[in-house]
Amino acid sequence: MKTHTTHRTTHHTTHRNHTALIAALCLSALQLFSLSAFSQSAAPLLKRPANPADAAAQAQKLLALLTPEERFDLTSSSYSFGITGIPRLGIPTIHFTDASAGIRIIKGGQSEHYEKTTAFPCPLALAATWSPELATAYADAIGEEMRAGGIHVLLGPGMCGYRLSVCGRNFEYLGEDPFLASRVVENYVRALQARGIAATLKHFIGNETEFYRRGSNSIIDERTLHEIYLPPFKAGIDAGAWAVMTSYNQLNGEWAGQDAALVNGVLRGQLGFQWLTMTDWTSVWDGVKFAASGNDLEKPAGFALRRDKAKLLGSPQIDRMAASILKTCIAAGFYEPNFAKPELMPRWAERAAVARSVNDRAITLLQNNGVLPLDPAAVKGAVLVTGNCANRTELAGGGSGHVKGYDSKSPAQAMKELFPASAQVTVADAPTDEQIKTAALVLVFPGFTLGGKNYEGESDTGNRSFVLPDDALIRRCVALNPKTVVSLIAGGGVEMDWAPQAAAIVHAYYGGQTGADALADVLSGKTNPSGKLPFSIEKKFADAPGYGYDAKPCEISSSHPAAMVGATPAKAGKKGNDKTHSFMTRDNKTIIDVYAIHYKEGVFTGYRWYDDKNIEPRFPFGFGLSYTQFSYSDLNITKTPGPAGKILATFKLANTGARAGDEVAQLYTGEANPTVPRPPRELKGFQRVTLAAGETKTVTIEVDPNTLGFWDVTTHAWKLNPGKYTINVGSSSRDLPLRGSIEL
Ligand code: BGC
Repeated sequence: MKTHTTHRTTHHTTHRNHTALIAALCLSALQLFSLSAFSQSAAPLLKRPANPADAAAQAQKLLALLTPEERFDLTSSSYSFGITGIPRLGIPTIHFTDASAGIRIIKGGQSEHYEKTTAFPCPLALAATWSPELATAYADAIGEEMRAGGIHVLLGPGMCGYRLSVCGRNFEYLGEDPFLASRVVENYVRALQARGIAATLKHFIGNETEFYRRGSNSIIDERTLHEIYLPPFKAGIDAGAWAVMTSYNQLNGEWAGQDAALVNGVLRGQLGFQWLTMTDWTSVWDGVKFAASGNDLEKPAGFALRRDKAKLLGSPQIDRMAASILKTCIAAGFYEPNFAKPELMPRWAERAAVARSVNDRAITLLQNNGVLPLDPAAVKGAVLVTGNCANRTELAGGGSGHVKGYDSKSPAQAMKELFPASAQVTVADAPTDEQIKTAALVLVFPGFTLGGKNYEGESDTGNRSFVLPDDALIRRCVALNPKTVVSLIAGGGVEMDWAPQAAAIVHAYYGGQTGADALADVLSGKTNPSGKLPFSIEKKFADAPGYGYDAKPCEISSSHPAAMVGATPAKAGKKGNDKTHSFMTRDNKTIIDVYAIHYKEGVFTGYRWYDDKNIEPRFPFGFGLSYTQFSYSDLNITKTPGPAGKILATFKLANTGARAGDEVAQLYTGEANPTVPRPPRELKGFQRVTLAAGETKTVTIEVDPNTLGFWDVTTHAWKLNPGKYTINVGSSSRDLPLRGSIEL
């Protein structure tokens, strides 16, 4: 019976199999026919048009070939780091990668196909070079590596503002000044995209804290948004960026990624952005709102869209989103065959050289009593190397901006190579008092860790403390040994109460795989330092504009970082407020607390604040020393004729010291009689100048007078009052020996 049944079943199965086979054959013949028919009609639509504007019409035609399901899938693609292709139409899969300092290798992404990737210095270091040329070289090198591996979209550069020194992600951004950040962004975008890669401007907008980034509501007024936070995005858009990523936070009460007033209104309407927009990873909660907002792609997998699929499938909103995605990919040339250029891959040395030259001009000498440059051969006795970053080989911030690199070296290793065998280099995590006292030289390499635990790490998992985890160690070193050199490896400013006692202080940012060698060369004087701080370092965190100077009593303890940044719980969640991270689940079930972050300082951010309030920072914005000296003289201010005339500030810059060096000359303007409260000085021009020992150059910095205005909230437009404007030129925001003015 059993056998019989089996036989029958087998027979039936065989019969069914035959029928199924015939059906399948017919179907696949049909599919083959339709595939070739479709691909034939789709193929010309995938070609990059000579004029990007023609991509819109091509995208509409291509869209017409897609089923409603396929359109929906494009907008909610479940390929986390990319957009799944549609093989039947010959539409290839598009790959994304993090992030701004190179390619982060991740599981399940295209970047996994790399054997290794170059760890460039962090973007904050790039900003510290004050060099548009280096921004170009840096992005070009990253673009080359991406093209080599066939990755289309870089999820960077990041350009949120350095509002809080404690923000865990400042290393991924470009400092506190919108003018400086904008110059980096525009060059970065142009160079990256010249390689055929898309830049993604992120995170749009108001994501200036990592504390509760998924649960904070940035309250930013219109003028501040326009003067401080939008300009880098505008610069990137004007440079032709193909993509923008919206942020996790709410802006003035709505999640940025599903806010029609923000995405359709500001980004697409006002800033004229017409290409791909995507959300940050799990950052929108209402699929219907999202689809109506002007945003195109919900990352990583369209959780909100899928929840509302029944309402959205086949809708004009999904069509608009899918068309925008297709349009961008067509215009950028992502659907062209042979996108990957593996022949570029072996140029590792060239890319590492770019990384190195950025470090050489980024590392910033903050203080020096003459101990630097070191003469390694002259050091007699023990050299003590300590600090929690001494043995660290990955000189990078953590989280999605982390790039591991290859052939990396720790500062301790670089120090061992720097000193001759006669100087005994001892590396000690916890040196004894005796070791510190008896050393001929103490080299401390302090910083933060990679993770976000206990506010000791810099990454996208939280904010960190203003006080270094090694603060007590540094205090002990400077107290016990006057020859203590502190080289900070961090993404921003820290408390430096120990500064007056330190022999020298260097800010080395995160240098990536070439960071330790570059730092060794600065310490030994092989490289003459020329980096300038792209942010102010406050003496106390309480001095800073983002500190909770107006903090209302909140349900969290005053030592909690939320209180420190002036965050007040707007809505109490079930789980209590004293949590460092809070993630919504995919089904939107977790109740999270939303904290209001009031940008009460308005446009008075960074040095604008310290200057206006007459607070002396530890080290001001734009500051950085050299092993030579520079002097400024003979300022002459003119304006070229005509309505589009430019202000020309011409002056002499002399290298009065004994060695060659670079100086970054900076120009700040202020409106003499403003009609609204305005910062006393704002950066409007700069130039990096290379001077031989004893050389003098005549330098001209050009300023567009239209950039001297303010955002007028009555007309919702830029306004330039006629009248007198001060023009100050010098070596930092606080050292401006040349002073003049112009009537506009
Ligand atoms: C980060 C983004 C990043 C994304 C993908 C998010 O958590 O905020 O900057 O691009 O993850 O890794």
